[in-house]
Amino acid sequence: ELPCSIRSFSEAAGVSVGKVLGTMMQMGIGGVNINSQLDLEAAETLAAEMELSIELKAAETLENSLINELEEREDSAESLIARAPVVTFLGHVDHGKTSLLDYLIGINVVKGEAGGITQHIRAYEIDKDGRKVTFVDTPGHEAFTEMRARGANVTDIAVLVVAADDGVMPQTAEAISHAKAAEVPIVVALNKIDLEGVDENRILTQLTEHGLTPSEWGGEVEVVRTSATKGIGMDELLETLLTVAELNEYSANPDREALGVCLESAQEGDRGVSAKLIVQNGTLRVGDVIVCGNSYGRVRAMTDTLNNKPIAEAGPSTPVNVMGFDEAPGAGDRFHVLDDITKAREIAETRTHASSQESLSGSTTKISFDTFQER
Ligand code: GTP
Ligand code: MG
Repeated sequence: ELPCSIRSFSEAAGVSVGKVLGTMMQMGIGGVNINSQLDLEAAETLAAEMELSIELKAAETLENSLINELEEREDSAESLIARAPVVTFLGHVDHGKTSLLDYLIGINVVKGEAGGITQHIRAYEIDKDGRKVTFVDTPGHEAFTEMRARGANVTDIAVLVVAADDGVMPQTAEAISHAKAAEVPIVVALNKIDLEGVDENRILTQLTEHGLTPSEWGGEVEVVRTSATKGIGMDELLETLLTVAELNEYSANPDREALGVCLESAQEGDRGVSAKLIVQNGTLRVGDVIVCGNSYGRVRAMTDTLNNKPIAEAGPSTPVNVMGFDEAPGAGDRFHVLDDITKAREIAETRTHASSQESLSGSTTKISFDTFQER
């Protein structure tokens, strides 16, 4: 049971103590004062009487106690090891994000894309002489703002891809604001440098106007000239990224329950749900109990995102395809590993309930659970 005082009930509900006590009086409950304790049932009855909804309470409790603890748990300095930087390609449509990534990983995705437009959010880990980098490719088409934002949210370093023949375009500007909002370092790939008659100064000026002053102009932003089709500047781009990564000393604790973000997910017929996740901390293993947004399950199988080979575990910064969710988690939802499938189910169910409640009744007063627990 979760006792709460009349005081915290009134504060959480945003109604005066007098009104709460008055209602209780009408209900025939006397002899109570501001410090009297209500149990869950009494709080619910009272809320119903006052036409307040405290439906969300139980859900938020479990989330507060479990999920918040996992999110806020600090890793001791000794438990931390270096992890690969997560590098996201952002930029306007057709400026060459997928081509650059293809070149770096040595595969050719661009050829297989419908109309050459990326409609998914891809993530691959590559290994450069023992130094790993996780790359995330996002679509540049204007319809995919949400996917670019998602890419920016999981990223440590943003590569802003700007085609030299086109310059800063609307989705370039949008990508700049996503990267700035995420407070991550930005490296510019001035791509298609192989094309005739490009005016580099024009683009450096545009970048400066958007608050990205190139280092060659005394600013802080590295601008690397690249050609994804000719393979120009690719080593320099990778080295620049690895240098930024080294300066930032990204680290994580591999010896804890995994947590991270779902990039996208799909129902794959008989095979069930496949979700593409990025592990941000801890290690995800086959058999783990996992909850992500409204869905939950036990990790049945995991595969590498590059060649789809089965893998048994995925450490920090690793992108991975995960099978075993009961339904497709939402793109952008955070995932957590729990020790108990029942808890995972309860959390997923209460979240589902909460989101349907929210959509059903816009005017429901939610009583924050924090308030209940803290006082
Ligand atoms: P979206 O995913 O749709 O946002 O596009 P994108 O940024 O991933 O661009 P993509 O890699 O699909 O490249 C678009 C077109 O530009 C393709 O035809 C590429 O072959 C071409 N391209 C990419 N990089 C270069 C380059 O460095 N030089 C030249 N000349 N063409 C390039
Ligand atoms: Mg693309």
